[in-house]
Amino acid sequence: MLHKLIQILLLGIFLAVSCSEPNSTVSSAEQVLFAEHIAPIIHQNCTKCHNPNGAAPFSLVSYDDIAPKAKLIAYVTEKRLMPPWPADPSYTHFANETYLTDEQIMLIKRWSEEGCLAGDTAALVQPEIVEKTWSKTKPDLIVKIPEPIKVPGNNSDLFLVVKVPFELPKDTIIRAIEFVPGNKRLVHHVNTHIVQFEPNKKRSLHEGKYLVNQDQTKSTQIHKELGLLNDDGSYAPMTPSVSNYLPGAQFSFYPDEIGGFRIGKKNAFYLNDMHFGPSAIEQKDSSYYKIYYGTKEPKRPVKEFQIGTLGLAPVEPALVVPANEMKTFHIKFNVPSDISIVNIVPHMHLIGKRFWAYAIKPSGDTIRLIRINDWDFRWQYFYMPKTMLKIPRGSTIYVEGDFDNRASNPNNPFSPPRVIAEREGSMKTTDEMFQLILSYVSYQKGDEFISLE
Ligand code: HEC
Repeated sequence: MLHKLIQILLLGIFLAVSCSEPNSTVSSAEQVLFAEHIAPIIHQNCTKCHNPNGAAPFSLVSYDDIAPKAKLIAYVTEKRLMPPWPADPSYTHFANETYLTDEQIMLIKRWSEEGCLAGDTAALVQPEIVEKTWSKTKPDLIVKIPEPIKVPGNNSDLFLVVKVPFELPKDTIIRAIEFVPGNKRLVHHVNTHIVQFEPNKKRSLHEGKYLVNQDQTKSTQIHKELGLLNDDGSYAPMTPSVSNYLPGAQFSFYPDEIGGFRIGKKNAFYLNDMHFGPSAIEQKDSSYYKIYYGTKEPKRPVKEFQIGTLGLAPVEPALVVPANEMKTFHIKFNVPSDISIVNIVPHMHLIGKRFWAYAIKPSGDTIRLIRINDWDFRWQYFYMPKTMLKIPRGSTIYVEGDFDNRASNPNNPFSPPRVIAEREGSMKTTDEMFQLILSYVSYQKGDEFISLE
């Protein structure tokens, strides 16, 4: 990982020369101008993270922010490193996708090569810099992380599982839950579940630890250490994936009638896989949740199933990647009833390289799900289809994944490479996982036409 950072830094220095000398042979009619052509692309696709309060380490708002980085911007857009969107847009499109078209990438490149001409910057409308991550709708309840989380200044990624207990005066219908990061530069991604206790089965929500380090705790011990078991040692029911966060990902409500659930008085958020990016100095994070209540009884709760590691269908062959090898694995699953997919979540760790999922209908037709040609563990997106995606009963879902355990992979956590495997469902980042998680509702006629945008 350190390799990658150094690579990026060197690249930054190498490309940090500003714009090329203007090329006088280009006629003014053809000139690419910042104000007219480039600002709209950057403001629409980059500024939501690249602003003074955003997740990215520098701003891309004004001409003076952008022009000195023109070559680097041309490079990262051409390589499709930015904006981060790992899914291959030539395979499937999603409601929440952000990527640049080939024409936009060309324009940026030309602008940088033609000397970064400004154009009429005075006429530029300043972009509205809202992190679109959270809505402006007023929440019914705010629940904070009990204590600020300390992130050490050791330049390494930190992966935690965190418990956030909360009590309600009565049974309540929840329409949506939104995660708001405290320290946007640090919080990288979070996947939240809710543990729901029956009041007579749990005395105190505050026993046990508030957080454990995911890389140092056996997954079978996590609930116990966090005090999340019932008083008799049994597991309390958990509603999965009630909220997911990733920088730049837009928070959204599902369409009416879809989603929503009822919870009782005693609950705890279970922040699975809370990832903090590396920091050179010790910092703190106080993230919180906004909860939106519903008024109508939830009709079509969103359910989820996972296949692969810890899931309903195994990884084949067993997920063991020998040192210095690149290896392909498969998952195969038969869909037992008609379902409508609302979210597709591929999951691998550091040495994941390629992820490809599709379904074959009983008729033999293929339903494309997702293809990621260059997996990046830092961008663990939840991919929402543009409309609800029907998978008929009897279809088979196929997942194929490559893992690259060679020294040439800059994300390899070990040097020299060591055998890397899936171990008892260990969530350690240096162990591997290969999973496809699908959020769905039972199919109803007409779902294919319900937009998720
Ligand atoms: C989802 C949030 C997000 C969006 C959208 C985004 N960036 Fe970034 N960008 C980041 C973060 C975070 C980093 C820091 C490095 C990293 O984590 O990859 C970064 C790093 C960069 C870098 C430095 C890369 C390097 O190798 O040194 C450049 C240049 C950049 N972004 C340009 C852009 C451009 C241009 C766009 C729009 C076309 C864009 N970014 C959109 C979050 C974003």
